[in-house]
Formats: sequence, C-alpha cells, structure tokens
Amino acid sequence: MAPSAYIAPVGDSALIFRDDIFKGKVLFCTGGGSGICRAMTEAVMRHGANAAIVGRKLDRLTQAAKELSEATGQVCIPTQADVRQPKALQEAVSKTIEKFGRIDFVICGAAGNFLAPISGLSENAFRTVMEIDTIGTYNTIKATLAHVRASKGSYIMTSATLHYNGTPYQAHVSAAKAGVDALSNVLAVEEGPHGVRSNVISPGPIANTEGAARLASVAGKDSPYPLGRPGDVRDVGNATIFLFSDAASFVTGQILAVDGGSEHLRTTQLPYPASVLDPSATLKVLKARM
Ligand code: COA
Repeated sequence: MAPSAYIAPVGDSALIFRDDIFKGKVLFCTGGGSGICRAMTEAVMRHGANAAIVGRKLDRLTQAAKELSEATGQVCIPTQADVRQPKALQEAVSKTIEKFGRIDFVICGAAGNFLAPISGLSENAFRTVMEIDTIGTYNTIKATLAHVRASKGSYIMTSATLHYNGTPYQAHVSAAKAGVDALSNVLAVEEGPHGVRSNVISPGPIANTEGAARLASVAGKDSPYPLGRPGDVRDVGNATIFLFSDAASFVTGQILAVDGGSEHLRTTQLPYPASVLDPSATLKVLKARM
C-alpha cells in the first residue's frame, strides 16, 4: 500500500492568539466585501478590532459588514468607493475616522482578474487591472498614510505568486502585482522611521475562491500540494493576524507566500502550449465551465 500524504490542519486562531490582541484597533480593508480580503477582515475582527470595508458594490458591502459584525461581536461599517478614484477613497477614510477615530491597520486588497492571453487583451483591459491593483494600492496608501503614521500602524498588501514565473493569461495581473510588491517594499523603507510597517501576503491556491474557481475551470487536473491540500481562507487570516500583531513588530518589507509550498511545484495550470496556440478553444472551455 502506498504511504498516504500528510494533510496540514488549518490553525484555529482562537487557540493560537489571545482574543483581545487588537482591542481598540481599527482596520481599513479594500476589497473586504468578499473572498480572501473578507476572511482577512474577519480574522482581525475576531481578535478585537473594528473595521471598515471598502468596495464598489454597496449592497454586497452592507451585507458583508452586517455578517462580519454579527460573527465577531465587533463593529464593521461599509464604505463604498472605487480604489481607482482617490476622492472616493478619501471620503471612505473620512467616514472611517468619523466612526472610529483612528486607523491602525490597512489591507490593500481590491483586485481585478480574468484569464486572457496578451493577444486577446485590449489596452484598456490591461490598464484596468493595473489601475485597480497597482494604482488602487497607491491611492489607498495615500488616503490612509497620515492616520497610519499617527497610530504607528501597519499595512498588508494582498498580492499573488503568479508573477514569480511567466504565467500565461495573467500578464495584466502579474505586472500589477509586481508593482504592488514593489510599492510595499518602498513603503516599508520610507515609513519605517515613522513607525509604520508594510508587508505583502501572496496567497497561492486558496480553495473556494473566485480565483481558484477560474483556474480550476481550465486546469483539468489537480495541482500537487506539498502540505496535502489547497489553502483555506483561514490560512490567510492567520498570516494576517501574525503580521499585524506585535509578534511581527520587527517584520517589515517582506513578502509572505501563503501557499503551502505550492509555488515550488507550480507549472502553468492551463494546457500548454495548446492554450497559447489556440486561445479561443481554451476560452470556450473556460466559459462552458464557469
Ligand atoms: N477577457 C478579456 N478582456 C476582459 C475580460 C476578459 N475576461 N473581462 C474584462 N475585460 C476587458 C473589457 O473588455 C474592457 O476592455 P475593452 O474596453 O477594451 O473592451 C476592460 O477589461 C475593462 O472591463 P470592464 O468590465 O469594463 O471594467 P470594470 O472596471 O467594470 O471591471 C474587472 C474590471 C476586472 C473588475 C471586471 O472585469 C471583472 O469583474 N472581473 C472578474 C471579477 C474579478 O476581477 N474579481 C476580483 C477577484 S480576483
């Protein structure tokens, strides 16, 4: 009988971190209305922080804020803004300050993604993702920095592992996330002397997320997982708690892949070279499966 592989347990943050380590702290999270960033927000709130979540769709944000407040016993408010619009972000920050009086933690998480080869990507499509991910991160830093300096707080940028290699169909996201990583590094160096830290979390394959569903729809086979499973949003939540906590007070300018080691084994999940020789057939499969 073949030996069976180890499957890593998901850490239970309630058993690992004190439940009040973020008491009195306030999180401002772009993209917090859904997916990984919502789970990051929940993780921080479960340890005592209040939060403002930022997104474009008010209905979804309002519902998410209500659910997050109920689940954690803390206060979460929805603040509608498109991260591409500095003024809207500044208003979201003002609303947060009006409600809570401070911002300690910022998650720059709003992102856009779809699968498309360069040959099928319009200039506007490329620019759109650069604007949401990279410029949106910059706009978020600009809108929040004075408050984060005042609280000697901390940033986490949500990035990806896609740009560590040439990942087909992801030119836009790869370029955008490389920019996000670079921004965080500079922020860490410029703002360290002001008491502000900045780090990047790069989620690998995380189960039950939009990104995973998108790739799984064309991958057609399971990826190998060194720790026996794909990630869980709570894995990213645990890394978030660590990086915002005083346990990470000497950690800044770092990029933490939360991927269970998958990046070391990753090849393109798309059929290769078929996907680049005949994108229309690949996109047809993708559409049929989504
Ligand atoms: N393939 C190729 N191009 C695409 C595309 C796809 N699947 N989806 C969008 N684009 C292009 C659009 O055609 C448009 O370019 P064009 O004007 O040359 O036609 C450009 O991208 C902007 O798209 P649009 O939908 O008008 O912009 P938006 O600002 O309303 O939304 C996104 C941008 C990225 C958020 C949107 O495309 C989207 O909803 N993506 C999927 C969901 C998502 O990204 N979720 C984030 C979690 S990772």
